[in-house]
Amino acid sequence: MSTQSDVFKKLIAHSKEYGFVFPSSEIYDGLGAVYDYGQNGVELKNNIKKYWWDSMVLLNENVVGIDAAIFMHPTTWKASGHVDAFNDPLIDNKDSKKRYRADVLIEELLAKYDEKIDREVEKAKKRFGESFDEKMYRETNPRVLENQAKRDEIHARFVKALNDNDLDELRQIIVDNEIVCPISGTRNWTDVRQFNLMFSTEMGSTAEGSTKIYLRPETAQGIFVNYLNVQKTGRMRIPFGIAQIGKAFRNEIVARQFIFRMREFEQMEMQFFVRPGEEIEWFEHWKDIRLKWHKALGMGEHKYRFHDHDKLAHYANAATDIEFEMPFGFKEVEGIHSRTDYDLSQHEKFSGKNIKYFDPELNQSYVPYVVETSIGVDRMFLSIMAGAYTEEELEGGDSRVVLKFHPALAPVKAAILPLVRKDGLPEKAREIMDELKFDFKCVYDEKDSIGKRYRRQDAVGTPFCITVDHQTLEDNMVTIRYRDSMEQDRVAISDLHKIIDEQVNMKNLFKKIVTE
Ligand code: GAP
Repeated sequence: MSTQSDVFKKLIAHSKEYGFVFPSSEIYDGLGAVYDYGQNGVELKNNIKKYWWDSMVLLNENVVGIDAAIFMHPTTWKASGHVDAFNDPLIDNKDSKKRYRADVLIEELLAKYDEKIDREVEKAKKRFGESFDEKMYRETNPRVLENQAKRDEIHARFVKALNDNDLDELRQIIVDNEIVCPISGTRNWTDVRQFNLMFSTEMGSTAEGSTKIYLRPETAQGIFVNYLNVQKTGRMRIPFGIAQIGKAFRNEIVARQFIFRMREFEQMEMQFFVRPGEEIEWFEHWKDIRLKWHKALGMGEHKYRFHDHDKLAHYANAATDIEFEMPFGFKEVEGIHSRTDYDLSQHEKFSGKNIKYFDPELNQSYVPYVVETSIGVDRMFLSIMAGAYTEEELEGGDSRVVLKFHPALAPVKAAILPLVRKDGLPEKAREIMDELKFDFKCVYDEKDSIGKRYRRQDAVGTPFCITVDHQTLEDNMVTIRYRDSMEQDRVAISDLHKIIDEQVNMKNLFKKIVTE
């Protein structure tokens, strides 16, 4: 039986073998926490982005998009607080010389307590069967209570240390709880220090003098500085939103877990501008919509949960994460934050420009409040890969690996396969391909046995295989094979477009967000 960590290793290997994700500049042994997307990866990534983009700008008439530059005026990052406070607390193990995020070490410890408690409950559930009262068990079982009390105590200290920005206390929590370095196994820790995550470079030649500029660590600021441009030129009325997809860069201290934590990654962010006082209502609204967006993909409702932030950023008055159950536990995929009027007020202060909104209904000017939804494309990609990756034992001792993507996201929608490479079958298959290719990403494959070709398509998650045989030349019918059930039907070539479209059209997903 595969453990979760085996599954994760296999997923990484599969991603490379089938052209989804490659280590960056691999011929030079790669670059830490930077990855490239291959021929199938880029299709999946583009589909994820389209699903997000259209769900924002098509489904909401008051949400429009922009595409801001990565480089921004350096004062942007002073105003936003990133120059002074975009830090992670780091700690080094003196024996292994490995660097860790102190907060992550403590979060992992808390997760271990949660797992211990859950294991205890699961065991009891099996023992008592139908009559098991989980709530009562959690409230009365001495072992559960003991672990829960320890967990709560660590958690309370952790939250206080974060809120007080108390680096010594973070270290003390690590020491008191005997957290060891996973590499050296020792507790020989340095002090905790703050580390700024922004990458910087120089703009301009040295002769003219150059300016230190930053690679944006989030796309959101490109939206804030354009808020007034869009509001005025688009004649937008509050409430309205601005959506953007683009690259962001962070010099992550601990870059592990494949594409989960990268140094160059992509974000899909939407800033929603609202009246002061209405932000919590909108925060709840976007929480609901965003969870529906995730759940519509059908990877299992139980795989998602909200996790409210332990420490609210100084500018936020509410914040939660949508977590997905990755092979290495529940992890943040998206953040939803109520950012008050902090960012716009800061830009007003630092730029000296008036960016207030005149509300004609209230006959009043104010700096709008902002609710943001912020999701990493790469993390979403990882969650989709993890949710889709399936190993199946088949009848007759055979097995297959199949990526059960939602058809709307699948990189390739249909594979066109002539049964043999002669007798006019390739020509007929090409004819079908030429018809379908205007609307769907299709591949043509005539190499190897039909069984092997099916397996290749399963491994990249192609929902439909269309086989052309000798009979096709007589009756214009083909065999269509469905990826998940592996069932086959005989259908008319003229029906193919409709059959494929019914499954892969993103409309199916959008309807779930709007109506459910
Ligand atoms: N504008 C708000 C913001 O940037 P964040 O929680 O720092 O908030 C939002 O980031 C999302 O961006 C995260 O939920 C995650 O999906 C993604 N993200 C952040 N850092 C990342 C990294 N180093 N690698 C991959 N994705 C990352």
